[in-house]
Amino acid sequence: MKYCAKSTALLDIKSNIIVSIFEEGKLSSAARKIDEISQGYLSKLIESGEITGKIGEVLVLRHVPNYTAERVFVVSAGKKGEINEKQFKQIIQNTIQAVKSTKAQQVISYLSDVEIKDRDLYWNIRFSVEAIESNFYQFEQFKSKKNDQQITLTELIFSVESEMAQQAIQHAQAVALGVKFAKDIANCPPNICNPVYLAEQAKELATRSDLIKTTVLGEKEMAELSMNAYLAVSQGSVNEAQLSIIEYRNHPNPSAKPIVLVGKGLTFDAGGISLKPAEAMDEMKYDMGGAAAVYGVMNAIAELKLPLNVIGVLAGCENLPDGQAYRPGDILTTMKGLTVEVLNTDAEGRLVLCDTLTYVERFEPELVIDIATLTGACVVALGAHNSGLISTDDELAQTLAQAAAETTDKAWRLPLGEEYQEQLKSNFADLANIGGRWGGAITAGAFLSNFADKYPWAHLDIAGTAWLQGANKGATGRPVPLLVQFLINQSAK
Ligand code: BES
Ligand code: MN
Ligand code: ZN
Repeated sequence: MKYCAKSTALLDIKSNIIVSIFEEGKLSSAARKIDEISQGYLSKLIESGEITGKIGEVLVLRHVPNYTAERVFVVSAGKKGEINEKQFKQIIQNTIQAVKSTKAQQVISYLSDVEIKDRDLYWNIRFSVEAIESNFYQFEQFKSKKNDQQITLTELIFSVESEMAQQAIQHAQAVALGVKFAKDIANCPPNICNPVYLAEQAKELATRSDLIKTTVLGEKEMAELSMNAYLAVSQGSVNEAQLSIIEYRNHPNPSAKPIVLVGKGLTFDAGGISLKPAEAMDEMKYDMGGAAAVYGVMNAIAELKLPLNVIGVLAGCENLPDGQAYRPGDILTTMKGLTVEVLNTDAEGRLVLCDTLTYVERFEPELVIDIATLTGACVVALGAHNSGLISTDDELAQTLAQAAAETTDKAWRLPLGEEYQEQLKSNFADLANIGGRWGGAITAGAFLSNFADKYPWAHLDIAGTAWLQGANKGATGRPVPLLVQFLINQSAK
């Protein structure tokens, strides 16, 4: 899809136009103009109750009297001045659905004049483009019969001339691209998307951008580094663990400390010897959602050419039960030297991540954010709407919360304190890998914090937000929007 922002003469439009009307018969200024030249055509439709202004309604009009446009999409946009972000996205979804059901190729949208509460024109355009791109997303690689709904729309013009609008389009397209890349690898089945596949995607990214260099460590290299906790998780799988390091360097000061993003990349998590129940186990292909998000973010920032140094790390691994698998009771010596007693092999994410957090010390990071589908407990605490945010650094936590609010890719901070470490005590090792039933999302974060003491650190638990369950089962691409916004904001500092 091609997007642009430029002012257009409404009266000359030959293709298709989108205008808004509101409840109580209020017309937007574009709708009013069409109403005038058509001698009250829209007003009559309002009077007859065919247009109500209620959110959800889109009327497609052809042959509007005295008007040149092929089609006029009249979008009901609710109560003027009271539209929130969620409703606005709904309005865009409905509009694009209506446009798709026609053969329209080019549309000129006047929806940029719809006011969203507490948001400016930038966010109007930004949300629009992102909502449209997510509406267009399909994952059909493995269907022998593809969806026959052909999308004819190729160009959307926002009828507004401003630099802010151009920037919103550019940012939105990069975010959407990142989200799409993240969704594609996350949706990919675990018999194809294994750790080697993840690493191949990471390497392929380096061939697409001059600013990126990718290095991949296999199990041999990890063994030399004593990444024994990570390797223990991988022991039960014939698929070799792969740690991909994607280095993006574009800071005006080449030696500026990098921002490091670490993604949990369990391409499948069966639980290991502490095997998971069968129900919904297929969804554990999404246990690489953190790595997928990091991969998506790296794509987005390469597209935007942000003036930053960012290192994305994909911690690829598979957790299966097997004769070679690690067991409950095993004591592992981590790369950092701390020993960990395994009490549940299904708490594997923190074992993979703890060694990766130690590994990234070598980059002398400005800050590190890990992103992980880490705990079911986080889903119990926050549901599917907010990612869990845990941090040892208030400023970093606040900056992330800010980016989450801006993008509506929400995150909610959970506490972290000494007291939670109590739950991780082991009789036989420095740490246990589980902390009991209570506060499971927090004790997982507390476990990781022991390995993140060399830099400001934050952890995003995306167990509830990385994918949707049920009829719309599929990856969401979250928290790519949050993280890209965080980096955009960082680059503007
Ligand atoms: N990948 C899971 C977490 C998960 C579970 C994410 C369900 C989304 C939905 C993780 O590896 C795991 O199994 N965690 C355990 C930890 C427990 C053994 C302390 C969990 O949450 O049950
Ligand atoms: Mn697990
Ligand atoms: Zn897991």
